[in-house]
Amino acid sequence: MAKHIVVFDSGIGGTSVLEHIQNKIPHAKLSYLMDNKYLPYGELSFEFLTQRITSLLSHFITLIEPVDLLVIACNTASTQTLDILRQHFNFPIVGVVPAIKPAAEKTLSKKIGVLATPATVANEYTASLVKNFAASCSVSLYGSSQLVKLAEQKFWKNDLDSKQLEQELNTLYIDKEIDQLVLGCTHFPIIAEEIKLHINPQTTLLDSGEAIANRVISLLGENVMALDNKKQPVSYFATAAFKQTKLPITVITN
Ligand code: DGL
Repeated sequence: MAKHIVVFDSGIGGTSVLEHIQNKIPHAKLSYLMDNKYLPYGELSFEFLTQRITSLLSHFITLIEPVDLLVIACNTASTQTLDILRQHFNFPIVGVVPAIKPAAEKTLSKKIGVLATPATVANEYTASLVKNFAASCSVSLYGSSQLVKLAEQKFWKNDLDSKQLEQELNTLYIDKEIDQLVLGCTHFPIIAEEIKLHINPQTTLLDSGEAIANRVISLLGENVMALDNKKQPVSYFATAAFKQTKLPITVITN
């Protein structure tokens, strides 16, 4: 039987991870939940997020179980709540955290950047990734919620205000000597091409999407690959209604 994988984010950012999973395991049954009622997560406190995510996911899982694996496709949520969530559920949980380790392995200039939400750049888990894996590098952290909003805008409206994007990147003042820029928010791969236009063209952008899909495969076991390869439609769920939407979404109340 096809495995049931739940992918979770505050908004549409987790679809950048979902896409990698779907490409590698097309036959999986995928449910995608966005907590758009509280978007952006990057502005919320640790206490609020922990409580909110635990109660929302507990409720959601009872609506759609059985579940084989949960992907927290949100760096902000993963870096703060992963340990707590793992105590709550008895299936494997994969978190998405900024790709600081691969960036530190690839950098030649020994200068790397992390572009993430304000909460992710400020939290202890991110500081520990820097300390443990990038101690020999100079690491610059850039926090932005405006980029999250622009990624949502691009996804839903197929349109991006490039002036606002340029202004935001100018405000962040990304160091030109950085050769690896970690996209430490799952929303940012959605606007990676546009970000690239406004930073040093030699800088490589890194995200965790493919590594997460590989981790999901290894946790679910090899027989997952042996099943039929026909892509299954994704079931989308949200916590707040949309004025217009291009996806069939079920709104859940919580
Ligand atoms: N996509 C999320 C992340 O990876 C969160 C964006 C937000 O809601 O602030 O951090």
